[in-house]
Amino acid sequence: MRRRQFIKALSTTSLGWFMDRRGALSDFSGPVTRLTTKTKALSSAITGQRLFIPPLYAGEANNGEQQYNLFLQPSEHQLIQNRVTATWAVNTEFSQLPMLGPTLRLQRGDAVNINYFNELPETTTMHGHGMAVPGPEDGGPHQRIAPGTAWSAQYVVDQSACTNWYHPHEMGKTAEHVYHGLAGLIIVEDADSQALALPSEYGFDDIPLVIQDRRFGPDGQFDYTPTNQEIRQGYFGDAILVNGQIIPHQDVPQGLVRLRLLNASNSEIWQFQFDDARVFSVIAGDNGFLPKPVDARSLTLSPAERAEIVVNFGQDRHARVALLVSGLRSGLAQVGVFLDVEAGYAPIEQMPSDWPEDNFRATPNLPVRTFDLGGQGGLRINGQQMNLNVINEQVPLGQRELWRVRSSMGMMHHNFHVHGGGFHVLTRNGSKQNIRAHERGEKDTVYLAPNDEVTLEVQFNHRADSASPYMYHCHFLEHEDAGMMGQFTVT
Ligand code: C2O
Ligand code: CU
Ligand code: CU
Repeated sequence: MRRRQFIKALSTTSLGWFMDRRGALSDFSGPVTRLTTKTKALSSAITGQRLFIPPLYAGEANNGEQQYNLFLQPSEHQLIQNRVTATWAVNTEFSQLPMLGPTLRLQRGDAVNINYFNELPETTTMHGHGMAVPGPEDGGPHQRIAPGTAWSAQYVVDQSACTNWYHPHEMGKTAEHVYHGLAGLIIVEDADSQALALPSEYGFDDIPLVIQDRRFGPDGQFDYTPTNQEIRQGYFGDAILVNGQIIPHQDVPQGLVRLRLLNASNSEIWQFQFDDARVFSVIAGDNGFLPKPVDARSLTLSPAERAEIVVNFGQDRHARVALLVSGLRSGLAQVGVFLDVEAGYAPIEQMPSDWPEDNFRATPNLPVRTFDLGGQGGLRINGQQMNLNVINEQVPLGQRELWRVRSSMGMMHHNFHVHGGGFHVLTRNGSKQNIRAHERGEKDTVYLAPNDEVTLEVQFNHRADSASPYMYHCHFLEHEDAGMMGQFTVT
């Protein structure tokens, strides 16, 4: 069968290095600085492991296509001493993934065929978040994968270099399925990303960091039991996991290092900064490079948002630098990962002086649609609750539009994510000035504090009919599952 061939193919490729999990389960003896309270899970958590880098999976050439085989499987993970946490993971069997999944690397222009085999006990789906693909290939709630069956996303990669991700999107179950551990990165490469002299050696000077929080039950299992209040206000964890580990460490070269940050939490908004408050360059947002790099000392990402940053460790001989992560809503704060700078080896020392051309120009006088998030405190959009049988909006193919998204007054934080293609944020609360650094490039998810309003310029270049429509929704997963989502066609 296909599967055996696949496993064989993998074992003969150069994937050996990432399976080295030396140091696993050893106790952390270094200084855990600035660790704040509310971390009861941490007292017995296994910290101090080497950062686990999800294996890079470039696919296999097959009849002019790049083929990827992904098996959704139960797995397990040792996160708490003397406890084994049951998880879900992708391709756990041959890469020993304790949770999450391999990082897919796609090339712009490639025809790809991504096969998902569901070996889990429940029906789920697998959505390519940020991928500009036709409706039937989107992996949203209509493309269900029953246990024991497979589903394939087949398309030609047609978008700029960026860091996307895949995760389940089963109606009403997304939060829980992601919480079990299903999520992985999709790195899209194009001519720009390959021409730029940016750190790009995966796992060496180009490091993915998937940030999540998890609550643990006394038995060491992930505890996903939100109350009604937590569905509204957010379901927060006891500990912050980076690539599925608590306070791991990673060796980095003494030069420029690129970090690809993904907030894969259900409802926490993470703020990132270094322990010495050093300046770094924000180079990319959700769907591509920024028009130019922006210097920053901190960066905030709401659920599903991504950013790429470049940090210069040129002056840090033998230093240990901590990336601090703090939750703006729960107050949970922790070292995310320690970066140990190896002396004297700097593959890239300077930011590139050229930069991809920014050809986005805001278009005046476009048709406008408005989206009201959470009017009267309801978890609804425009007063409507998600219904798989209702198409909420019909958008013409290739038509540019302005989407005005506002969050109602009140206490609730939301964001707004659109399937099928990226958008540009034109204004936040009426002005360009309020747009944050990582929001200046193409995006697919935008944060809204209570009472915020953003104007987005959207355009969809692929079709989605009423049998496989696209979604727009709040990506706070408890809100999404409660019905804060709508469907639209593009024809
Ligand atoms: Cu990241 Cu509709 O999803
Ligand atoms: Cu999406
Ligand atoms: Cu919301």
